Amino acid sequence: MITAALYDAKPYDREYFPAAGGTDITWRFQEFRLTADTAATAAGAAAVVAFVNDRLDRPCLEKLAAAGIRHVALRSAGFNHIDLPAAKALGLAVTRVPAYSPHAVAEHTVALLLTLNRKIHRAYNRVREHNFSLAGLVGFDVHGKTVGIIGTGKIGRLTAQIFRGFGARVLAADVTPDSAWAAAHGITYAPRDEVLATADIVSLHTPLTPETHHLINAGTLARMKPGACLVNTSRGKLIDTAALIAALKSRQLGGVALDVYEEEEGVFFEDLSGVVLQDDELSRLLTFPNVLITSHQAFLTHEALTEIARVTAENVRRGARGEAFLAGTQL
Ligand code: NAI
Repeated sequence: MITAALYDAKPYDREYFPAAGGTDITWRFQEFRLTADTAATAAGAAAVVAFVNDRLDRPCLEKLAAAGIRHVALRSAGFNHIDLPAAKALGLAVTRVPAYSPHAVAEHTVALLLTLNRKIHRAYNRVREHNFSLAGLVGFDVHGKTVGIIGTGKIGRLTAQIFRGFGARVLAADVTPDSAWAAAHGITYAPRDEVLATADIVSLHTPLTPETHHLINAGTLARMKPGACLVNTSRGKLIDTAALIAALKSRQLGGVALDVYEEEEGVFFEDLSGVVLQDDELSRLLTFPNVLITSHQAFLTHEALTEIARVTAENVRRGARGEAFLAGTQL
């Protein structure tokens, strides 16, 4: 029997991982996050299974290695939360789930934009209060607008294609453009600043790297088309939150939809409804009528969870047997 210690466990993990693990993997579900302080709890497991807000820095990885762990299986596509050079130096194998369902994230991106634009979140609450007034609920047609897609990897491409289905013009920016894909879908690549300056809707789909950290800052926000809407379902630190708040207050931005937030660690995924929120910037964002926030749930579909558990379980099995991991999953 193989034991895997799974951190930051959610109720849905307890459903999908046992189904994927079959009879040969025991999952040790831990509701707390994996950090240097909690890493010793991994002792005795063949692998640790980590999520996006676990903090896999060098001190944590050193404790995992000391506890006898040889494999860190990230149950996410993003891997900005692990110190890969440290993992390599310590002899820890690292795997991730590179593409469990880009559709899940692309569809949530479009759902957020439509909700924000057509003010469905406000209409839903009003109608429940028997307030059937339409005052203040005017949106715009996505048809005919220009959508800027920053990052045309798996998720950015699908998002672009969905927006093309609305009859929008799509401008894209990427460090490695794919002109054949763009031509096939009637999409045009342009330099990032031109995309930002032209688009009515900007959607971020790059990974978090030193180059993309605060990609959206006071300077880029000032160059955006006045009244544009911004959507971020990628990583919170792509946006400088203080600059975002200033652009909302000055009305330079027309609206913002976020599934990720710069300081989401310890807040997103938690029920803090009875707690005094300590993050003043998040509190401020939540006061704007034209800001919509979901708590990092873009990946949360049945198909995505099934695939995340399948790939992770198979890699845990292979790692324990000393076999090669599934193609394309090892970092
Ligand atoms: P991907 O690796 O397929 O695509 C990323 C694209 O960004 C690539 O085409 C790359 O060339 C481009 N890129 C990198 N640096 C760039 C830069 N400086 N400027 C412009 N383009 C740049 O990644 P994928 O799977 O499409 O994921 C995109 C993002 O979505 C990641 O940040 C990931 O962490 C996030 N994500 C969020 C989820 C959620 O639940 N909210 C779930 C899954 C992924």
